[in-house]
Formats: sequence, C-alpha cells, structure tokens
Amino acid sequence: MERTLILFKPDVLQRGLLGEIITRFEKKGLKIVGLKMLRMGPAVAKEHYAHLAAKPFYPGLEHFMTHHPVVAMAVEGVEAVEVGRKLAGATNARKAEAGTIRGDFSNSTSRNVIHASDSLETAQKEVARFFRGEELFDYGMALHEYFYAEDELK
Ligand code: PPS
Repeated sequence: MERTLILFKPDVLQRGLLGEIITRFEKKGLKIVGLKMLRMGPAVAKEHYAHLAAKPFYPGLEHFMTHHPVVAMAVEGVEAVEVGRKLAGATNARKAEAGTIRGDFSNSTSRNVIHASDSLETAQKEVARFFRGEELFDYGMALHEYFYAEDELK
C-alpha cells in the first residue's frame, strides 16, 4: 500500500470546500490515515517548494501558503500516489479535465485548491514533512474487501 500527501490550500478553507473535496478521496476508496489543520511556516514552505525557489511566482506562492491555514491529509491505497494525482487533475486548472478536483473547483494555476505528491519518493518525504509518526494511523476498514480484490493487495 502506498501513502501520499494531499494539501488543501488556503482557498479551500476560504471557499468552504473542505468537506466536499475530502469526500472525493473517501468515495474513491483512499483511506485517510492522517488529517490536520496547520499554518505552514516559511521554513516548511521553502522546503516543500524548494524546486520552485527560482521561479518568478515563488514569493507569491510562499505568501499565499503561509498567511492562511491549510489542511494536510495523508491517504493510503493501492497506487495511491498516481490515484491522488489523477483525482487532482492538471496543475493549471484551466486545462484540468472536468471531473477532476482542479477541473471542477478551480480556474487557476496557483489558487488550484490542492497539492498532491507527484512520485512515491516525494510522497514519503512529504508525508513525513507534515506528520509525526504518532499522527499517522494504521487501522482496518470493514468495507476494505469491497474496495479491492485480494489479488490487488499483493
Ligand atoms: S510545474 O510548474 O507544474 O512543473 O511544477 P509543479 O511542482 O508541478 O507545480 C508548481 C506549483 O507551484 C504552484 N504555483 C504555480 N505554478 C505555476 N505558475 C504559477 N504562476 C504558480 N503559482 C503557484 C502550483 O499551484 C503548484 O503547486 P502545488 O502545491 O505543487 O500543486
């Protein structure tokens, strides 16, 4: 099973979309194993977006992400990283497919409602960036066998 990080950007809380978007992950069958509201400090923002530090939009991105609360969520599932990216849709929400979260809830590249880890390696680092070990939960779900057949779990 993979784990991936989903960040609900400040526009989600400001627009009252948190419940509706979390529901999409639950309905898809991704198990929530960590969930918390926080203010991202500048140091964490710099680490999280280190690959974008030289981009002209970086100062605006850091300001946006650090001046309002965000919600971090870790979800678990078979190929969860790829599934999370598919649910999110393209970074530029104007080009994101209808039916994806960005395609349905955003029209922007920066106010694009969620961040989703882009590889398994990144996901492992990002989950650890936002959650301590005791904030992540291992638990069984009664309906598990209705989300996956046994051979998919090998
Ligand atoms: S890229 O550019 O798509 O290859 O990079 P990526 O890491 O996928 O996403 C860029 C992140 O920066 C946020 N952002 C912007 N991107 C492009 N242009 C502008 N103007 C911009 N402003 C902010 C964008 O929402 C991506 O954030 P995350 O949190 O990674 O989704």
